[in-house]
Amino acid sequence: MTPSQHALNKIVVLNPKGGCGKSTLVTNLAARYAQYGTSPTIMDHDPQGSSIAWLRRRGSDYFKIHGIDACKPSMQATRSWQLRIPSDTNNLLVDSPASMSHDDLRRLSSDATNLLVPVMPSAMDIHAASRFIADLLLVAKIDRRERKLAVVANRTRKNTKSFARLMRFLDSLGIPIIAVLRDSQNFVHAAELGIGVSEMPPSRVRDELRQLDTIISWLDAWPERRAQLADQKAAQSQSASSRPPLHTATLSSA
Ligand SMILES: Nc1ncnc2c1ncn2[C@@H]1O[C@H](COP(=O)(O)OP(=O)(O)OP(=O)(O)O)[C@@H](O)[C@H]1O
Ligand SMILES: [Mg+2]
Repeated sequence: MTPSQHALNKIVVLNPKGGCGKSTLVTNLAARYAQYGTSPTIMDHDPQGSSIAWLRRRGSDYFKIHGIDACKPSMQATRSWQLRIPSDTNNLLVDSPASMSHDDLRRLSSDATNLLVPVMPSAMDIHAASRFIADLLLVAKIDRRERKLAVVANRTRKNTKSFARLMRFLDSLGIPIIAVLRDSQNFVHAAELGIGVSEMPPSRVRDELRQLDTIISWLDAWPERRAQLADQKAAQSQSASSRPPLHTATLSSA
């Protein structure tokens, strides 16, 4: 049985730029969700399989994270079995490959409750990210009013020109930067050990923990964002239906 669509928080992490931090974000969020006792599942759509390989390195004494290798070849009949999500999963973290066709982009993002785009702040990365976000809005038809799309600035040192450029660019699109992950060897060491930075000694990872928890608070607020949009749409359609038809207004003002 799969969890009901309503309860499942499907978080898709995507950006065609290789090495921007997709798998890092997926694995660290999964580890943090696991610490909170929410039995997360990672679904890895990247043939490189970085997140699944991370899961294999994970010791059995750490909190359990379920893994699904979506790229594993399988017979058609067993495909849905292979992709089934355990019924106790509340948070599904989807890792994606560096290059995706428009169809793949539409397929992966269609029923997502959250879309996270990690962006590194070099000029080239910002250029690639801006094209990609435009694709998401136009090709995958992501409605910005749904507010399910957010950026995580990764490997960033604040107070740099490139960071300011990234902020301006996203501001112009109305897309929030919900967290800033600093460039830290903690992420590299955690990846090697199959753990999240939140599973390292807290005194070493205070800043990373704060940022991860900020991301999780934003991700977990998806039902409220959805409800707000439904309210907005209802208010709009009510005010449209209570307005007199255009020709009546024209006649009465004549
Ligand atoms: N904030 C960070 N600080 C230091 N190193 C980082 C940080 N984020 C990611 N890295 C390192 O950068 C490398 C690339 O990160 P990652 O594999 O998460 O990127 P990716 O977007 O998944 O790449 P790909 O497109 O190849 O799948 C990894 O070695 C990772 O440990
Ligand atoms: Mg990856």
